Amino acid sequence: MAIRTIREIGDPVLNKISKEVKEVTPRIQDLIDDMFETMYEANGVGLAAPQVGILKRIVVIDTTGEDPILLINPRIVETSGEQTGNEGCLSVPGKTGIVTRPNYVKVVAQDEELNEFEIEGEELLARALCHEIEHLDGHLYVEKVEGELMDVELLDDED
Ligand code: NI
Repeated sequence: MAIRTIREIGDPVLNKISKEVKEVTPRIQDLIDDMFETMYEANGVGLAAPQVGILKRIVVIDTTGEDPILLINPRIVETSGEQTGNEGCLSVPGKTGIVTRPNYVKVVAQDEELNEFEIEGEELLARALCHEIEHLDGHLYVEKVEGELMDVELLDDED
C-alpha cells in the first residue's frame, strides 16, 4: 500500500466526471487499498478516487475510524430530511464551510466483487455519502457553501 498525493482545488481533475468501474483488476484493488491508507493518514472521513487523480467511480468512507466503507459505482436512491452544518474536504485543506444536506440518504453501490448492496446513512454518514458521491461528478462542496468559506484555524481559536 502507498499514500497517494491528494489533489487540491484548482486541479482540473477534480472537476471531471469519473467513469464506471466494470472490473476490479489488481490495479483497482491497489487503488482501493491506497485510498483507505491515504484517507486515514490525512485524518479524513472520506475520499473519492478523483481526489487522488483517478477518474473512476470509487469512494471510501469511515466516519468513526472503525467502519471502513467501500463504494464502487455508488448512487443515491433516496434522501430525506435536512441538516445544516460544517463541512470540509481533503482537497480544500484548512477550510470549512456551512452546507445543507439531507439528514438521511440511501445509496446503492457495488462491493469489491461488484455485488450490489444498499447502505443507509444519517447525519455525518449521510453528509459524507453525499459529499463523496458528488466528487465522482466533478463537484466540490465549496459550490454549495452558505456564506463564506472559513479557515479551520480561526474556528479553533473561538473554542
Ligand atoms: Ni471532499
